[in-house]
Amino acid sequence: MTADRESCAIVAENLHRVYVTGRRFSRKRKLIVAVQDISFVVPRGTIFGMLGPNGAGKTTTIKMLSTLLIPSGGSASVSGFDVVRDERMVRRQLGVVLGGDRGLYGKLSARDNLIYFGNLYGMKRDILRRRVEGMLDLVTLRDRAGERVEGFSRGMKQRLHLAKALLHDPPVLILDEPTIGLDPAAAVDLRAAIAALVPDHTVLLTTHDMAEADALCGEIAIVDKGLIVAQGTPEELKSRVAAERRIVVSTRGTLDGHASQIAGRVAALKDVSTVNHNVVEGDLVEWTILCGDTAVTLDGTLAILRGSQVPVQAVKVIEPTLEDAFLAIAGRSFE
Ligand SMILES: Nc1ncnc2c1ncn2[C@@H]1O[C@H](COP(=O)(O)OP(=O)(O)OP(=O)(O)O)[C@@H](O)[C@H]1O
Ligand SMILES: [Mg+2]
Repeated sequence: MTADRESCAIVAENLHRVYVTGRRFSRKRKLIVAVQDISFVVPRGTIFGMLGPNGAGKTTTIKMLSTLLIPSGGSASVSGFDVVRDERMVRRQLGVVLGGDRGLYGKLSARDNLIYFGNLYGMKRDILRRRVEGMLDLVTLRDRAGERVEGFSRGMKQRLHLAKALLHDPPVLILDEPTIGLDPAAAVDLRAAIAALVPDHTVLLTTHDMAEADALCGEIAIVDKGLIVAQGTPEELKSRVAAERRIVVSTRGTLDGHASQIAGRVAALKDVSTVNHNVVEGDLVEWTILCGDTAVTLDGTLAILRGSQVPVQAVKVIEPTLEDAFLAIAGRSFE
């Protein structure tokens, strides 16, 4: 943990949570360790992502941070308030969006839903009115704010959930799979709304979506079986899987027996580890080059091919994804 604690909105230390299932004294009674030992900090004004397969312990961690579950071990704080000892203060710091469809009144309009919840929070009437309009703008629902929520699409409801969580202006937002079940366009809209929350807010979100974590988060923890198996910026995580970084160049034209000579020159480029060439058909040849830096290698390779008067037909650059990072770290695929 590098960031100093004062500047951290969320601190989790050795969090541990066990669920007990089945009846007391029953032989079927089981202990499930959902979160084994999870520690991380989230600096203020940043977006932190928890990424991991089903059952990894993401929701359980989030529920402990939002005071909905008591940790079986370890501790956590939000804006310096302990999630067990200062539960009420923690709740004031937080806006929480958990998955699921509950939590909005279908018969009320979007605007009336927000007003209703604002009243529950005890917000003053004119402050609440202004705040509601501001939040409707933020999540781009102002045009539809007078309509009943039961007629809303999933994406609209999800945006309204976010507006509701922001109503009392909490500094910290916790979002459990905010874009799950949304079509690509709706997910893009919601991601934009989330991205706009920083640096004024701090966001902790969970997702299964690698591309989403990559696009939104400054820091990502990859969680598996109740443990953080890797953590870093998206770039750091991806750079761990160097073997996946490669370019594939297709050339068409006779090579006049120069193929191995060209391959040798490409192999001599900086940071190139392997060069393979295969004849696909006739004079169509595919060159696969594993390298450290795809941009530099591509430049060098194209220069060599041009110099040898070999016409290039297509180029593919393959960079590692977070999925590859997870595969390399956990030894299996995500789903
Ligand atoms: N209320 C519960 N009672 C018993 N076991 C539970 C309960 N909630 C979660 N678990 C178990 O704890 C483990 C972690 O679950 P959790 O919901 O935290 O995972 P998750 O990472 O959020 O998964 P998903 O991606 O599917 O949402 C799983 O093995 C799950 O079956
Ligand atoms: Mg979950």
